[in-house]
Amino acid sequence: VTATLVTGIGELVTNNPEIGDGSSLGVLHNAALVVEGDALAWIGPATRAPAVDARVDLHGRAVVPGFVDSHTHLVFAGDRAAEFAARMAGAPYDGGGIAATVAATRDVADDTLRKLLARRVAEMRAQGTTTVEIKSGYGLTVATEERALRLASEATPETTFLGAHVVPPGADRADYVAVVSGEMLAACAPHARWVDVFCEPASPHAFDADEARAVLEAGRAAGLGLRVHGNQLAPGPGVRLAVELGAASVDHCTYLAAADVDALAGGDTVATLLPGVEFSTRSPYPDARRLLDAGVTVALATDCNPGTSYTSSMPLVIALAVREMRMTPAEALWSATAGGALALRRTDVGVLARGQRADLTVLDAPSYVHLAYRPGVPIARAIPLSGPHHAHG
Ligand code: NIG
Ligand code: FE
Repeated sequence: VTATLVTGIGELVTNNPEIGDGSSLGVLHNAALVVEGDALAWIGPATRAPAVDARVDLHGRAVVPGFVDSHTHLVFAGDRAAEFAARMAGAPYDGGGIAATVAATRDVADDTLRKLLARRVAEMRAQGTTTVEIKSGYGLTVATEERALRLASEATPETTFLGAHVVPPGADRADYVAVVSGEMLAACAPHARWVDVFCEPASPHAFDADEARAVLEAGRAAGLGLRVHGNQLAPGPGVRLAVELGAASVDHCTYLAAADVDALAGGDTVATLLPGVEFSTRSPYPDARRLLDAGVTVALATDCNPGTSYTSSMPLVIALAVREMRMTPAEALWSATAGGALALRRTDVGVLARGQRADLTVLDAPSYVHLAYRPGVPIARAIPLSGPHHAHG
């Protein structure tokens, strides 16, 4: 295995509080690291770097852990630009547009869908994302949900069965919940790590607490971990249900009651905030400060999907979190990396440490603060440093 010494790292964020400046970001200045294969063999001050054969000089750039985008819906065809434009002219969002993406997605061949998905994953990597979770939910039949998860599992181990995205037009609610919890789950579980439900009684298309509980309990019995879309459009039962069932994450959390914050603070469910959604639906942003001040673990993700947040950019999400949700740049970066890893119950990503994976994101900037300070500027990219792929960075 080739060992490569990366030097000239002006600022290295490790998310390892035991090294560097003692903060939760574990920041080292004038750092170096050694990559061997896919792993980090050494991290430390440049002055103490070991001698190895190959060297890369980053000339003072910052390096951060690759972003962990723990919530996306990348398996889809078509777009909903007209729906977005109508919304910007005042139309509300209630999830009804999902049916248009379902129709467009059912319509394309496997290979077309595979290529659309691969292009989106590459677009994310080019902006610094090295771990991505991908949900189904734009098929809503046994065969098309199974296909979505099969294709997603070619791209990532973090695959989520979201048959309970909406009740398909024309279907009977109770019948559909039974199919999702039965035959559809059985077909999808072999390709999925997680099960998710759009629990939103305020939407006529999504699921109430009893329906969501039925789907989540069936998913758990099939060996899947739990995730929930909750409290996106209105206050509701999603957050408390997620905590009660021990879900790894509850996502959106746009409308929170005091009891929701208390439940999150007392449980071990991560609150994943998706400010690209509030941006693209012109909604109020979630109260990140209230969650952080209550001691809740917060993750940030794109929710990349054609309806509510058609961005693949974690740097944009970080900038929104800082500007619109009053997270500090340090909190936002942590939530976009280590927080996302916790939302996926992963300890091998989101942190840079000796022996861990070398998921490195380089910034064309001297500090991670530039992720929020230079909004819209493409400064972040994931770099493949391992072995023969080295030159492709
Ligand atoms: O996370 N809330 C439900 N699902 C997606 C939106 C899906 C769509 O509109 O296509 C979300 O916001
Ligand atoms: Fe989503």
